[in-house]
Amino acid sequence: MIEQTDALTSPTLKHLRGQWWTDAFTTFLAETLRPKPGMRILDVGCGTGTAEVNLARLRLSQLDLVGVDISVARVRDALTATRYMNATVGFAAADARNLPFPEASFDATFCVAVLQHIGEVSKALAECARVTKPGGKFLAVEPDNAARYWFSSLPSGMTAFEKGQRFFAAAASAGRETAPAAVGALVPGLLRAAGIEPLSVRLFPVFASALAAPPAELWEKRRNAATAGIETAADDTVRALGEEYRAAIEDYARAAEAAGPAFVEIQNTLLVATVGQRED
Ligand SMILES: C[S@@+](CC[C@H](N)C(=O)[O-])C[C@H]1O[C@@H](n2cnc3c(N)ncnc32)[C@H](O)[C@@H]1O
Repeated sequence: MIEQTDALTSPTLKHLRGQWWTDAFTTFLAETLRPKPGMRILDVGCGTGTAEVNLARLRLSQLDLVGVDISVARVRDALTATRYMNATVGFAAADARNLPFPEASFDATFCVAVLQHIGEVSKALAECARVTKPGGKFLAVEPDNAARYWFSSLPSGMTAFEKGQRFFAAAASAGRETAPAAVGALVPGLLRAAGIEPLSVRLFPVFASALAAPPAELWEKRRNAATAGIETAADDTVRALGEEYRAAIEDYARAAEAAGPAFVEIQNTLLVATVGQRED
């Protein structure tokens, strides 16, 4: 099972990839894409090359992996991460909404935790479909950031969560354009219009639980996340919500300390993996 999420540190799973990308997740990726020698596979929004490093470990010679990312710095990091790997891996800087490849260039195409950053999700899906060969697999793994379950045995914990959700939502809507929070759950319904037949949906829960007051480091992370949000707030309204949120975290930390072993906190959120096939 996949573990570790913290709704009071991040409103999304964006910053937690290192915690949920497990061997089981790599196995799912490989079983879905069924990489075989000679296949050309595209990773859209490859980041620092985590998928390429993990897929290259399968030691399939003649597998041709191509990763693209809008961030040149990440493409550079991906190149460094895969430099000594025994696999054909290539990277390029490119926008998912305008992929620099001819039609039907790849046997399979996938993206992990990328569409959540893109306002024009349908445009990115249409591009993924265009560059995938007819009959080729498509896989999108995206969070449903609207599906956050939170329980705290302390009323101040419930308050901190509510204030955090309000603050993070206000900060996101005042910032740059991103996909709807429920993007993971929306993808299956968007595929047909892009020319991809949806085949299956699999859920990966990302969870955490605490059966005693959390350690000081977690409270520090929570405080720091609130402070970082306040410092980068787009306007006074967002800043004020951030201040309220930070104060709620302090109340919660004090109450948790007093509750000691009676403290309970349970969280869950979802990653939605949608598998599809490029229509003929
Ligand atoms: C959370 S990271 C995921 C990286 C990688 N897929 C992984 O799971 O390790 C999201 C990545 O999407 C990239 N990205 C965001 N918008 C993009 C776009 N329009 N086109 C291509 N990549 C994009 C970011 O630069 C970032 O590297």
